[in-house]
Amino acid sequence: MNAKKRTAILISGRGSNMQALAAAARSADFPAEIVLVVSNRPDAAGLEWATANGLATLAIDHMAHATRAAFESTLQDALDAANVELVALAGFMRLMTPAFVRHWRDRMINIHPSLLPSFKGLHTHEQALAAGVRIAGCTVHFVRAEMDTGPIIAQAAVPVLSGDTPATLAARVLEAEHTLYPAALRLVASGQVRCQDDKIVMSEDVKTISSLYSPAI
Ligand code: GRF
Repeated sequence: MNAKKRTAILISGRGSNMQALAAAARSADFPAEIVLVVSNRPDAAGLEWATANGLATLAIDHMAHATRAAFESTLQDALDAANVELVALAGFMRLMTPAFVRHWRDRMINIHPSLLPSFKGLHTHEQALAAGVRIAGCTVHFVRAEMDTGPIIAQAAVPVLSGDTPATLAARVLEAEHTLYPAALRLVASGQVRCQDDKIVMSEDVKTISSLYSPAI
């Protein structure tokens, strides 16, 4: 196998997706290696978990930086120092400047808990329930400057059940996230999925995912 892609995970909070990525990366055949976990919030629970589990961690407090660009400059230095090749955003709650996004174009991915392009931004599960959709899900995409946009790498769908609350729907989607994100990182790090002229190109050996209907039929 070619060398594993040196990957940084950026978090702001609990870090359950980071844990899923880190768990996958422990497999010998996984094409990405987690070389750094960065949080913009020093008190992020995920940071503690990452440290306890032997990952290299760094808190870069955005509040200690006067501007978004200053914060990103510190972040970029840390990514460069660790020779990072891929960046995975996992519940990272900071918008990036167009310059930073351009620098990492097609090398930075994000997970969002909706079937994009529906329900961008915050309160996505509330939005889905208010819209009355019967199928919800999550999306992994390459990052572009506009929030929750960019070429879609992979999506997973889950049913919306009667009686769902934002919390129950979030939990069902989160479970799917924990499977989808490692699968998507594997595709990107192995080169089976890449972005060309802003379109996803998938190698022919990528398996298609079975269909989901809600209600079950
Ligand atoms: C996830 O739902 C992710 O899709 C969204 O923020 C949440 C982060 O959760 N971007 P965690 O920190 O990975 O547990």
